Amino acid sequence: MTNVTTEDAAQPVIYKGLAGVPVDYTAISKVNGDTNSLLYRGFAVQDLAARCSFEEVAYLLWQGELPDERQLAEFETRERSLRHLDHVVRRVIDELPTTAHPMDVLRTAVSVIGARDPSAADASPEANLDKAMRLYAQLPAIVAYDQRRRHGLELVEPRDDLSYSANFLFMVFGDVADLEVVSAFDVSMILYAEHSFNASTFTARVITSTLSDLYSAVTGAIGALKGPLHGGANEAVMHTFEEIKTADRVSAWLDDALANKHKIMGFGHRVYKNGDSRVPTMRAAMESMLVHFDRPDLLELYVELEADMGARKNIKPNLDYPAGPTYHVMGFDTATFTPLFVASRVVGWTAHVMEQLTANALIRPLSVYNGAPQRELPL
Ligand code: ACO
Repeated sequence: MTNVTTEDAAQPVIYKGLAGVPVDYTAISKVNGDTNSLLYRGFAVQDLAARCSFEEVAYLLWQGELPDERQLAEFETRERSLRHLDHVVRRVIDELPTTAHPMDVLRTAVSVIGARDPSAADASPEANLDKAMRLYAQLPAIVAYDQRRRHGLELVEPRDDLSYSANFLFMVFGDVADLEVVSAFDVSMILYAEHSFNASTFTARVITSTLSDLYSAVTGAIGALKGPLHGGANEAVMHTFEEIKTADRVSAWLDDALANKHKIMGFGHRVYKNGDSRVPTMRAAMESMLVHFDRPDLLELYVELEADMGARKNIKPNLDYPAGPTYHVMGFDTATFTPLFVASRVVGWTAHVMEQLTANALIRPLSVYNGAPQRELPL
């Protein structure tokens, strides 16, 4: 990406795509492209993934500190009490065609939840935290129900004796998943939860900066995440795998894709140019799942495409690359992958909404006009 373009020295410099432009402070996470590291509130994300649950990480991102035993117990009790799918949201989903993209279903459902919340306009920190908690607890039921209805299956009610991730998988598949699967899923939720001023989070902050409400910010963020240059890439990775089929076809497929100037989904990153900090942890989780579900063929394909992209373009995988095959072998529909990203990232988005409001400034950049000069209307 060309960061700065200017055709005329008298013109202001344009920072295309805002690449390399710091626009505000954040205390929520630190993405360091030079050291390939990611900190949530000061803790390395790989340490959190190894030693904490997604519930603890959500608490950390919102509150700034990890919970003690009592705080975690209270947090879990609250989350478990809010898991049921709202009956109006369910009715609205039932009205949508099963061909609707799950991201569109999710965006619509969040809008409905917002329109039904009498405190939607209350922007106090307590009210916003409460809304964030409700979305965090309810999005899994929406994602799960949407996948099930596409297969003609009935809704599965949540269970309050299961962790966030175990219950999520239970609501999608109707069985209690093996611990290893729950753990890999939980790791993916932790890794997806937050990533500073990425496109969807920035969208949420722009919307919040106008003093709009949290639901509007999350709805807009879902729209931004849907695109294949951002969250939509985890879904696109699986389409790539399905198209290539086997490792021995990678080279010919890449010849063609690169000759046609196609972007290879799941590779490259705006900030990490030497590798995405989250990939080693997600790759380990993926490998455990490919062994668990006996899919050595997918690992071969994964390794071959990564090696060939590295050799030809020196471009490394991002988090979506190992996340796609992981969700696939777990049994998620490909179109459900990006909604899984939403279920996790809603924590980061809402943390940013609350942070934006603590020191708000309307986000309103400038543009440089390059259209027709001023002219008269024809008579
Ligand atoms: N495949 C092929 N070429 C690529 C890729 C890719 N995935 N990524 C970057 N490049 C090339 C570009 O073509 C460009 O080459 P050029 O200078 O010869 O034109 C160069 O690398 C720089 O790429 P830009 O697109 O300008 O870099 P930018 O920082 O804007 O892009 C982005 C980052 C959008 C993520 C890009 O790498 C991409 O499109 N990747 C595929 C989509 C993807 O996986 N998105 C997920 C992002 S991570 C996340 O959301 C969890």
